[in-house]
Amino acid sequence: MPALVLLGAQWGDEGKGKATDLLGGSVDYVVRYQGGNNAGHTVVVGDQKYALHLLPSGILSPGCTPVIGNGVVVDPSVLLSELSGLQERGVDTSKLLVSGNAHLITPYHATLDKTTERFLGKRRIGTTGRGIGPSYADKINRVGIRVQDLFDESILLQKIEAALDFKNQVLAKLYNRRAISPQQVAEELLGYAEQIRGYVADTTLILNDAIDEGKVVLFEGGQGTLLDVDHGTYPFVTSSNPTAGGACTGAGVGPTKISRVIGILKAYTTRVGAGPFPTELFDDDGEALRRIGGEFGVTTGRNRRCGWFDAVIARYATRVNGLTDFFLTKLDVLTGWEQIPVCVAYEIEGERTTELPYNQSDFHHAKPVYEYLPGWSEDITKAKTFGDLPRNAQAYVKALEEMSGAPISAIGVGPGRDETIEINSFL
Ligand code: GDP
Ligand code: IMO
Ligand code: MG
Repeated sequence: MPALVLLGAQWGDEGKGKATDLLGGSVDYVVRYQGGNNAGHTVVVGDQKYALHLLPSGILSPGCTPVIGNGVVVDPSVLLSELSGLQERGVDTSKLLVSGNAHLITPYHATLDKTTERFLGKRRIGTTGRGIGPSYADKINRVGIRVQDLFDESILLQKIEAALDFKNQVLAKLYNRRAISPQQVAEELLGYAEQIRGYVADTTLILNDAIDEGKVVLFEGGQGTLLDVDHGTYPFVTSSNPTAGGACTGAGVGPTKISRVIGILKAYTTRVGAGPFPTELFDDDGEALRRIGGEFGVTTGRNRRCGWFDAVIARYATRVNGLTDFFLTKLDVLTGWEQIPVCVAYEIEGERTTELPYNQSDFHHAKPVYEYLPGWSEDITKAKTFGDLPRNAQAYVKALEEMSGAPISAIGVGPGRDETIEINSFL
């Protein structure tokens, strides 16, 4: 069972950090394969809470080698400050490996991200403003700057000049902003080079060798299936592929090497930023989910939009990722509701469908069709086995499993490492 992918099955913030950390003690490598510091992964170890943005959650497990794959976009200033923040807290970060092929987020990417959002006005995506989209756009336009470019001063400057040629015209003529100096950007980036050099490695080679030797490699997704640029609610998505295929391209590992794909699934639904969300609640229930679930963004501090569980989305995640298992999180948050609505289908202009519509306008018009499951009032945060859960909580999990199309192999009943019910072993 050497290579597993762990990814978000909804719109992000499902509890990927906790799930990754839980497995981290038994795996040899934890690899981020896409996204960047738009992610906010929370890990709670004892009384210590960590918020990781760019670094893989495996960095908190001493035996594990954390890897930033080629598919990630790396803001070097964030990388170094996150590393020093962990070092100050006594975490050994020396094993980190960073792909030389990963693209950089430079100061102009963050500037363009924020400026473009402002320019879009009410059509904005609600990005994290971290420069993710502009950095991926440059990668695809073949004017990106990669980690390896930090170590060749003259090439770095040439590449920055090429990247800024067009952007400076846009900034000055369209956005009425000052042009950015390529020299200044180069100087800033070169200032990071020596601190990063020691981490840079041929991560594709290392990971493939590790898998061939029978080592356990875990690919940790950022964001989630419905934020995927190909399979999500485009254009209200991020600019990478959090879905399972992204692990292959974003780490340089073939699909034949992946043995298991675990979808992290919240027992209800949340979304940050703009875009359609059929089960969104605007009433006291939505407010209660936000309050009890602590649904405030780890990266931007924004309120997360909250709603009931959506089985149409969960089934879609099973399909586009080839999920083998689910890890259901935050079941404890639902304690106390007399009955819990679960969306089993959509109604779109009078027609009922149980599949996610591929047409954007249809999805915008989708109305949830609810089934009502009986709730429970007992505290479940101390439950260690499935049998410890109240009967109605067991029935809720079983119903979700039936609707979602893959076995639920673990259940989160609290944020801590040990607040987990393991049903089937992942390793
Ligand atoms: P990620 O981006 O997918 O890693 O998720 P976030 O860290 O952004 O958000 C998940 C939040 O839920 C964090 O505050 C976690 O500590 C917390 N959490 C994870 N699993 C559980 C759980 O089973 N129960 C509760 N109550 N909180 C959880
Ligand atoms: P984790 O890994 C939730 C959302 C943003 C915005 C859209 C595009 O913690 O689950 P971007 O800055 O990526 O261009 O923004 O994607 N978004 C997330 N929402 N969790 C995340 O990460 C997210 N990363 C990006 O809110 O709607
Ligand atoms: Mg998050």
